[in-house]
Amino acid sequence: MQYRAFSPEWVDACANQLRESSTYRQAGQHWHWPLLLVLVTPDAPDQMIYLDLQSGQCNEARIGTTTDLAQVSFVLAASLATWQRVLTSQVDPIVAIMQRQLLLKKGSLTTLAMHAAAAKALVAEVAQLPTTFTLMPVDALPLPPVDVVTTPASTFITTRAGGLQQQHPAMQLFRKAKRLGIWNPDDIDYRQDISDWQRLTDDEQDVLRRLTSLFVAGEESVTLDLLPLIQVIAREGRLEEELFLTTFLWEEAKHVDFFANGVIATVIQHTGDLSHYHTPAYQRLFGDELPRAMHALTSDSSIHAQARASATYNMIVEGVLAETGYEAYFAALARNNLMPGIQHGITMLKRDESRHIAYGIFLLSRLIAQDSRAWQTIEQRLNELFPIAMDIIAEIFAAYPVMPFGLSLDEFAQIALTNFNRRLQRLEKARRQTVAQIYALEESD
Ligand SMILES: [Fe+2]
Ligand SMILES: [Fe+2]
Repeated sequence: MQYRAFSPEWVDACANQLRESSTYRQAGQHWHWPLLLVLVTPDAPDQMIYLDLQSGQCNEARIGTTTDLAQVSFVLAASLATWQRVLTSQVDPIVAIMQRQLLLKKGSLTTLAMHAAAAKALVAEVAQLPTTFTLMPVDALPLPPVDVVTTPASTFITTRAGGLQQQHPAMQLFRKAKRLGIWNPDDIDYRQDISDWQRLTDDEQDVLRRLTSLFVAGEESVTLDLLPLIQVIAREGRLEEELFLTTFLWEEAKHVDFFANGVIATVIQHTGDLSHYHTPAYQRLFGDELPRAMHALTSDSSIHAQARASATYNMIVEGVLAETGYEAYFAALARNNLMPGIQHGITMLKRDESRHIAYGIFLLSRLIAQDSRAWQTIEQRLNELFPIAMDIIAEIFAAYPVMPFGLSLDEFAQIALTNFNRRLQRLEKARRQTVAQIYALEESD
């Protein structure tokens, strides 16, 4: 039987060929991204083939849809003549891309190049099918299927051999979150905190109001801005990571609850406006840089957009500001033996944040291992934002001639810098690691 290239029967035959091939299974074991092959035709709508290839398996192969176009990681387009040369092994697919015969409309050339052997093996399998390369008459073109929103059964991870990867760093974090992240802000006893608050000096009350105002608005921002990243991870089918991310968002929501209902409403009992504490650097980061980087993911889910988003969210907002801020807040209370309820809440919250940052480090490392150019994106983003973060810390201290509670700018700037550098070194290492090596890492911040 002869198959016409890009027809539904040919796609099914390609899928069967790949599923039966041990050569492809071996060569494609590190390829994890769905892709779309587009046949550009002069006088008819483009025809698209969707291939979900994961770890040497062909999970799904079908006629592609416009939704796929937005969601897949790689889109390759060419004329029929070029596809014929590529799919009959007359020209190497990567070489065809380099020569701009085969157009890489979406995705990273570096990643493709790193998986040249997988691409070659795929083409070698397809080349074995008896195929005619002729254009179909327009009225005979297959109708694209209705866009499917739910994941087809063939792609369920939990029912595949091996199922969830238990050693995946995100699974390790998920287990930690179930063990350590279950705490209820409503259970905190604030009676001592309320009486401590009433005995504080004006400046002491002001600095706590200021820090609380920065923290609660920061937690509100990270709660509102996380979803686009979760959507990208879900669309990429990274179940282990999404399991962890459900705890991440839930915890950010609890942090908002802790500050809004516990600290502000119960202890400080403040009902007025607190936004006058938001200095220009703070407004720039939380009102502009963070939401812009995160919501950009709704229209651009490239590795670089993800790297930019995570560098902003995990490395700067959480890794520099939240971590240092909570350290200072906790130190102010603990060193002066004040407000045990808030101290407890901050202790729980710091633990949660350390898991969030650990996920960010994993995610950024994975992105760098997938495409080493992500490192430059991250470096550039951190260079832009680190000075703003340090300005925010400096602006807090600048508001008081003598900082209450014995807090010192030097001490906290040093903590911020040390943690930042340690994580940067971790990320730098990922430039020399493969994705498989990143997955094999023991989770640790
Ligand atoms: Fe948080
Ligand atoms: Fe967080």
